[in-house]
Amino acid sequence: MEIASGSGQHALYFTQQNPELIWQCTEMSSERNALQINLNELGAVTFPPIKTLDVLDGRDVAEIQTLSPFDCVYTSNSLHIMSWQGCQAFMKLVSEVLGKGGVCAIYGPFFYNDQPPVVSNLEFDAWLKNRNPESGVRQFSDVAEAFGEVGMTCRSDHAMPANNRLLVFQKD
Ligand SMILES: C[S@@+](CC[C@H](N)C(=O)[O-])C[C@H]1O[C@@H](n2cnc3c(N)ncnc32)[C@H](O)[C@@H]1O
Repeated sequence: MEIASGSGQHALYFTQQNPELIWQCTEMSSERNALQINLNELGAVTFPPIKTLDVLDGRDVAEIQTLSPFDCVYTSNSLHIMSWQGCQAFMKLVSEVLGKGGVCAIYGPFFYNDQPPVVSNLEFDAWLKNRNPESGVRQFSDVAEAFGEVGMTCRSDHAMPANNRLLVFQKD
């Protein structure tokens, strides 16, 4: 299950690389039509129907829970867009829909307490906060702590291009 599928580019890429994957796209209602059009136009793969998901909407969350358990949850470039309250709701939902040992992979930029931030991520953070003060590049330690509170542990943290990371959390 992907949270915040956006244009669908990741859904298309991963399913083209791994045709056995069943990839459940989700999006906010405002973005859902554009995603559907992209999947129709670009995809050779047949996807399950897109589910509407705002992680802060109890009805959306309840609907997603009916589809669980999922083997994996994926998201990219979303935690710095959601409010921190949204991030916490994201983590709670992820822990609820994954089976034991299930993993959540998160792509995006993060800050680290023990490393000086790179300029591009500082600038991106300032740009995000100027647009929406509740958004912003997240601290890895905050993300790990919040996941810990819902019973999930960081298993790996991969460097990705352009100072992004791929974090993998596993349900204990
Ligand atoms: C920068 S876009 C990233 C889209 C796509 N994952 C990508 O990497 O191109 C941020 C995404 O976060 C989603 N988003 C923002 N707030 C959300 C929320 N409360 N619940 C679910 N998705 C949310 C938006 O709808 C959008 O798809």
